[in-house]
Amino acid sequence: MLDIYKIGDEVLTEKCSDITEFDEAVRMLSDAMLDTLEEADGVGLAGPQVGVSKKIFVVHIRGEKPIVFINPSIIATSIETGVYEEGCLSIPGVYHDVVRPLRVTIQAQDVNGKAFTIEADGLLARVIQHENDHLYGKLYIDHLDEKERDKVIRAYEKKNRIRRRQKARV
Ligand code: NI
Repeated sequence: MLDIYKIGDEVLTEKCSDITEFDEAVRMLSDAMLDTLEEADGVGLAGPQVGVSKKIFVVHIRGEKPIVFINPSIIATSIETGVYEEGCLSIPGVYHDVVRPLRVTIQAQDVNGKAFTIEADGLLARVIQHENDHLYGKLYIDHLDEKERDKVIRAYEKKNRIRRRQKARV
């Protein structure tokens, strides 16, 4: 289980670099990320969230096969957009509506370096865009206007303070 970095940590704001070697280390990292995602009960996890500033993210939607995306690139997005309430393992406990394109086409490499293309819609399209943003130092709250963004951060900080106080008592 890897540590999940939270908002406020520098690594979440950095642009990631490409993965150039498809070796045992990459396989171990992707396995550890999938385990961490499962443990955290999330649907997506990106490199920076586990302190690795590399272009990798994993997606695991319930009932579907997990997918590892390495050096991904979103090559097409639909003009049609939709609203969905997003959360993030790096901003736990808070959620907010985010507008994004409904469909995307993404090219990436798997753990062996083999290229693949996925045309996604629904939840998969949503998660792909959220995770891909992480590789560019962007969080879902960066899609909100300043007022809404501040609201989410304040709600998160409030929850965090309460959690810390409860911990201190026991
Ligand atoms: Ni996230």
